[in-house]
Amino acid sequence: MTVLMDKDLGSAVYLARILIAECLFPGGIAVDATAGNGNDTLFLAREVGPAGRVYAFDIQAGALTNTALLLKQSGQAGQVTLLQAGHEEMERLVPGPVDAVMFNLGYLPGGDHGVITCPAATLKALHSALHLLCPGGRVSLVVYRGHPGSREEYEAIERFAMELDYNNFRAVKLNLLNRSDHAPVVVIEKVKSVQNSGLNSF
Ligand SMILES: C[S@@+](CC[C@H](N)C(=O)[O-])C[C@H]1O[C@@H](n2cnc3c(N)ncnc32)[C@H](O)[C@@H]1O
Repeated sequence: MTVLMDKDLGSAVYLARILIAECLFPGGIAVDATAGNGNDTLFLAREVGPAGRVYAFDIQAGALTNTALLLKQSGQAGQVTLLQAGHEEMERLVPGPVDAVMFNLGYLPGGDHGVITCPAATLKALHSALHLLCPGGRVSLVVYRGHPGSREEYEAIERFAMELDYNNFRAVKLNLLNRSDHAPVVVIEKVKSVQNSGLNSF
């Protein structure tokens, strides 16, 4: 497991990576639903290695340029497919099944803070991610709060996760208890023995 960052329970990204790394292996398949500056794409690329594949989405060309550069500098570009498309297109563009999907919501750090993820597209993509996920696979969402629309997005995700059928999915939330503005992490696991393929259960 190469989580690629300092051990710090105050970091939502660190928490997400620990739980995602557990379901990845050399040759695995992963999706970065929000490539941004490429840090999570690089993490996923290292976890699945040259025999694996990572599909990385972003709607901004500049984000994918940054991601491509980071991957090239790190020698991990070969196993990554960069897609300039909304993650709501995931089911059309990614051949499943996949082992893990990561969402890191909000705006591009260092970029235009007006371009943000939005609840409708995020929920559509989350729905697709759960369809694509193999049994035992996991989806993580780091949900920043503080920018306009972020609370609505967080509440929509939480509602969606709370309504998932426990027979087919486990949904957890990780939250710092002693800092109220911390970005919560939601992780959803598809159980190993899904009933009715789990597809009609949400
Ligand atoms: C917080 S950043 C991601 C950070 C990234 N994971 C990293 O490691 O650097 C959020 C990204 O989501 C992208 N985004 C917004 N709406 C999107 C959509 N519908 N589909 C895919 N990406 C989207 C933004 O362009 C932005 O780059």
